[in-house]
Amino acid sequence: MAGTKALLFVLYYFLLVACNAQDLQSCEFDALYQLGDSMSDTGNLIREDPSVVFARLPYGQTFFHKPTGRCSDGLLMIDFFAKSAGIPFLDPYLNKDGTFTQGVNFAVAGATALPSGVLAKKGIVNLTTISSLSRQLEWMSAHFNTTYSSPQECSEKLKKSLFMVGEIGGNDYNYPFFQGKTFEEAKALMPEVIQAIKDAVTRVIGYGATRVIVPGNFPIGCLPSYLTVFQTNDTSAYDKYHCLKYLNEFSMDHNKYLQQAIEQLRAEHPTVILVYADYYAAFIWLLDNAAQFGFDTNLVQKACCGVGGDYNFDRKRRCGHPDVPVCQNPDQQVCWDGVHLTQQAYKMMAIYLIDDISSKLQCDENPDS
Ligand SMILES: *[C@@H]1O[C@H](CO)[C@@H](O)[C@H](O)[C@H]1NC(C)=O
Ligand SMILES: *[C@@H]1O[C@H](CO)[C@@H](O)[C@H](O)[C@H]1NC(C)=O
Ligand SMILES: *[C@@H]1O[C@H](CO)[C@@H](O)[C@H](O)[C@H]1NC(C)=O
Repeated sequence: MAGTKALLFVLYYFLLVACNAQDLQSCEFDALYQLGDSMSDTGNLIREDPSVVFARLPYGQTFFHKPTGRCSDGLLMIDFFAKSAGIPFLDPYLNKDGTFTQGVNFAVAGATALPSGVLAKKGIVNLTTISSLSRQLEWMSAHFNTTYSSPQECSEKLKKSLFMVGEIGGNDYNYPFFQGKTFEEAKALMPEVIQAIKDAVTRVIGYGATRVIVPGNFPIGCLPSYLTVFQTNDTSAYDKYHCLKYLNEFSMDHNKYLQQAIEQLRAEHPTVILVYADYYAAFIWLLDNAAQFGFDTNLVQKACCGVGGDYNFDRKRRCGHPDVPVCQNPDQQVCWDGVHLTQQAYKMMAIYLIDDISSKLQCDENPDS
């Protein structure tokens, strides 16, 4: 059995990595535009607020050997997507010395899909940033206005661009869940969150986007932050991965409604290629193959950078604070700080996602023909 499994893995690895069977290079994108939150921020939040922990080591220790504002030890999925597309790492929009000829990263760590004012009316406050999806779209609009002389020129130039709308929306739920709101209160946000993402896709299509990727949410019940705060002695609350079932079902619901919204958008914009990126499935695939990918299976749910409890996570002593330890080998752990993943975990998820997405982007076909 073990032999068969190993052989299958070797075959799979060969297909995905060695052969480079599917990558984004064949799309010949000339630019990549990212909207989102900490899953993809490459340095916007630390320019809004240089005092955040993400502006300090050990963030960035692995790849850049200095903090860049990425919420990981190293690279994010968007960096691997860019690499695969043959595009340089995206500079954050707020970097005034940034190079934006091959795209812009508008994502801000802590950002929500809904505007902060809408959330405040529901008693959800103290957001890390007010640069929600609608504000990021304003930045995008301003950027295109200064880069192109007319809407016609803009949409013509964007034909060979790839747009990433998300992951976004995860924080709209994180804030209420960690501010003591009920499950029902968080759940009640879902229709508005989905509508905000749908509106954002409509707006980027309005600018001229022809290929848009819309990622779903993670299985939040598998993350050390949620596992710590919602820890229970009721063993039936956990699934075979020791993830909290009801929280994963919450993510599955969001993802289901998001995919329904994408279906509606496809009907409204038949010439635009819209692809759902299944972060949930990619993460579960990572858990299923953790040992083969070189992760320490005893540490899959423990934060690499963190301290305390069953999951190395304590909300009051988080990664980046003085005296909070970092694990010896981040490449052997999935979770970086209890909320975000390590570079190695993002790399494996990116391999899965690029393989899935690249065929769906139909790069051998011209969307106009
Ligand atoms: C928001 O921040 C204020 C000031 O730090 C604090 O008093 C309040 O409890 C916080 N509210 C929530 C819901 O976390
Ligand atoms: C960009 O230009 C359009 C029309 O020319 C205008 O409606 C829009 O407000 C501008 N966007 C920004 C952010 O200035
Ligand atoms: C689980 O049970 C232990 C021992 O009875 C108790 O001390 C602890 O508070 C319980 N934890 C939760 C989250 O209910």
